[in-house]
Order: sequence, then C-alpha cells, then structure tokens
Amino acid sequence: MTDQKPVLVSGVKPTGDLHIGNYFGAMRQFVELTKEGKYRPFIFVADYHALNTMQDAEEMRERTREIVMAYLAIGLNPDDVVFFKQSDVPAHTELAWIFDTITTMPYLMRAHAFKDAEAKNKEINVGTFNYPMLMAADILLYDAKVVPVGQDQKQHIEIARDTAEKFNRTYKTDVFTLPEPYIMPEVAVVPGTDGQKMSKSYGNVIPLFGTRDELAKAVMGIVTDSSGERPENVYRIHRLFRSEVNLDALYAEHRGNYKALKEALIEDLDRYLAPMRTKYEEFKQDSAIVDDVLARGKQEARAISEAKMEQVRRAIGVA
Ligand code: ADP
Ligand code: TRP
Repeated sequence: MTDQKPVLVSGVKPTGDLHIGNYFGAMRQFVELTKEGKYRPFIFVADYHALNTMQDAEEMRERTREIVMAYLAIGLNPDDVVFFKQSDVPAHTELAWIFDTITTMPYLMRAHAFKDAEAKNKEINVGTFNYPMLMAADILLYDAKVVPVGQDQKQHIEIARDTAEKFNRTYKTDVFTLPEPYIMPEVAVVPGTDGQKMSKSYGNVIPLFGTRDELAKAVMGIVTDSSGERPENVYRIHRLFRSEVNLDALYAEHRGNYKALKEALIEDLDRYLAPMRTKYEEFKQDSAIVDDVLARGKQEARAISEAKMEQVRRAIGVA
C-alpha cells in the first residue's frame, strides 16, 4: 500500500560547533515535526550546498558526521525518517542542471541571497548564484508538500514552487508537486553570554555538547551587570530551563549572589544537556551507526529520486 501522508523535505547544512541557540531555535522543533507521524519525512545533510562556502575536505567530512550524530543524539529516529546525504544522491545535481535550463538569469538575480552578496561586493561563485536551483531539486524530487525552514529560507521555497510550475507548463506535464513553505514558529532569540544573540560568529555561545567543565566556563563568563535587581544575562538563559515562577523564587532567594545563581544555572544546564551529550559521545566513540543510517538513507532516497528522474527524462525527451 502506498503511504498517503504528505511528504516533508528539509535540508540542514553541516555547520559545526553547535550551541544551545541552534538547539532551542531550530533543531528541537525539527525533530518534533518528524515525530508527529503526520508526515513522511526526508531530511538530508546539504553538503553540496555547503560546498559554496566550505572548501576543506577534512572539515567537510568531519562536520557532516557531526551533524548526523547531533541529530541522532537529540532524538531524531532514523526509523521515522529517510535521513541521507545530498551528495549520495546524484539526482539532486542532475535535476538542478535541468532546472538551470528553464530558469532565466534575471529571475535568479532577484533572490535575496544573491542580492545580499552582490551588495557586499562579494565575488559570487556560480554555485551561490544557482543555490536555489539545487534547492528546488532537493524539494521537488520527493514530491514534497511541506518544507519546514526558517523565515530566511522562505523565498527559496517560492522559487522551488515557481520552478515546478514552469517545468510542468513547459513540458505540459504534472511531474512535479507544488511545495508549500512551513515556517517554523519564531522562537525567542536565545541570548549569548554577552546578552547579544547567541551565535558562533560572536564567540558568545554555550556549546550544546560541551562537558560540564566547558558549560561551567561559558556560564562563569556570562557578563553580569551589577546595576539591576538581578543578573539579566544569566536569568534569560536560565529561563530556558525553568518556569518564571520557579526561577523568580530562586533569584529572590539568592539576590545579589551572582555566583550562586551561576552555579544553579550550570547545574540546570548540565542536567538538561547531559543525556544528549552522553549519546553524542557514544556516537563519537562508535560512529558505525552514522554509516549505517546514511547507507540506509542513501538507498531509499536513490530509489525514490531515480523513479522521479525517469519521469523527468521522459518529459524532456532524453528518454
Ligand atoms: P550561528 O548564528 O551560530 O552561525 P546558524 O546561523 O548556523 O547559527 O543557525 C542555524 C539555525 O539555528 C538557524 O535556523 C537559526 O535560526 C538557529 N539559531 C541560531 N542561533 C540562534 C539563537 N541565538 N536563537 C535562536 N535560534 C538560533
Ligand atoms: N538552504 C537551507 C539553509 O540554508 C538548507 C537547504 C538546502 C534546504 N536544501 C534544502 C532546506 C531543501 C529545505 C529544503 O538552511
């Protein structure tokens, strides 16, 4: 019997040094969506997309494995989802080429990512310019209905939708399903140790898989301001782990004692993160599971995308 659930597709770039901002801001919601049982999910590591900015073979290999381990450690169940690596499935780049041939330069020049790069006077590589075509292929190969992404990716989904329509119209076919963006609810921005948005580029992060000592070091480094009633930067991070009522009581009890409050935060962070960290460390020790998961994903994704490519090749007249 065929599975009638709507297909969900999304890609994650293999960025390293994950922090609790990434977790609370995106990764956690993502895993929840795959667990709901409402969709048929395909999640892949967008390594060919990352190639535009990461051109170091060792780093690519390492970060790819890390991101797979990270998702498994935070609870992505490989039985619920086809989890694979983009570069393992040649249909993605093949279809991207076909899309290139029906898309105009002025159309792609209107993409935000391209315009931003241009405004910064960056030398833009062709891969960056074509980024939305590869992304359209990622999505359309699997007949995705639902594409969960952050707000910044919305335009890319619209481009994928336009591309599906253009292909169907050009070749008088209905090979491609039109996808819809699913904008993940904006979670409050997780603040970093200096009170700004937590970001690896600001050096203000609390690492997601840090040891207790690393967590303690990051927390002790939280910038506190003695002018207010309570250390706001500590409080705002702490709020991720406790209810307001509970936290207010704790902060009242230790009013002015920043050290005690930071120690309480370290305790809460460690308690919350330890199970995920333990799993992550286990995978690092024995990463055969990463190979297994990716091998399974590759096989499934290849079979499905190849069937779609046969329809595409017939539609364009090369088969
Ligand atoms: P960074 O800013 O550390 O480079 P990325 O840009 O790689 O992080 O973000 C990856 C994902 O994590 C994005 O979906 C983003 O929305 C989410 N994210 C990153 N930092 C935060 C934060 N401080 N608060 C909430 N979400 C965040
Ligand atoms: N461009 C996305 C990002 O930067 C990653 C991505 C690549 C993606 N292909 C995709 C997301 C297909 C959703 C669907 O985060």
